[in-house]
Amino acid sequence: MTYFLSPPDAIYRLTYLDALREFHAELHNLEQDPAALNQNFEGYVRYLERQSTDKRRDGLVPESYFWLIDDGIYIGRLSLRHYLNDRLLQFGGHIGYEIRPTKRLKGYGKAILRLGLEKARRQGITRALITCDDDNIGSARVIEANGGILENTVLLSHRAVPTRRYWIDIPVQ
Ligand SMILES: CC(C)(COP(=O)(O)OP(=O)(O)OC[C@H]1O[C@@H](n2cnc3c(N)ncnc32)[C@H](O)[C@@H]1OP(=O)(O)O)[C@@H](O)C(=O)NCCC(=O)NCCS
Repeated sequence: MTYFLSPPDAIYRLTYLDALREFHAELHNLEQDPAALNQNFEGYVRYLERQSTDKRRDGLVPESYFWLIDDGIYIGRLSLRHYLNDRLLQFGGHIGYEIRPTKRLKGYGKAILRLGLEKARRQGITRALITCDDDNIGSARVIEANGGILENTVLLSHRAVPTRRYWIDIPVQ
């Protein structure tokens, strides 16, 4: 595999939209409207880029988005929050990720987090919090394969399933 993390880029419009159709089939990412995105994909890319600036409202922290690309095809996305707030400390953590349904169980989950931890290091993060639902076996394996140490499993008032909270040390190179 010759995959890499790319910043969001309009050159991946077609395969991003293919992936979105797959997510919609499993009732994920329904807030994204394929027709609207198709009309103004460059605007969507600029919107994602803006999320990494520190001028965000509504208590959101700056967040960088990256797309996993393999052989020119959109495989999944990773978001890197630059620091934690009280909410992220409980749920969400520094890094979130997803792999498109037709590309799962091929090692991309482990790969996207490994590459995301390198981005986190460049962001100056030395210890990353990653959370997942207690019943999300795939995500837990991805985190543990990348050195995640489980701190605790907590039942949060707004979540039906308990949340696992893992920390990953990121050595400074
Ligand atoms: C969780 C997710 C990222 C895993 O991606 P993936 O590309 O399938 O992961 P990998 O192929 O690297 O698999 C990692 C390990 O988990 C296992 N695994 C993955 N999905 C699994 C599942 N649904 N059930 C059981 N094991 C699973 C794999 O067999 C592999 O096991 P191994 O350690 O023995 O090799 C993907 O299922 C996904 O995007 N899910 C929806 C979004 C999501 O849950 N994101 C994470 C939020 S915390």
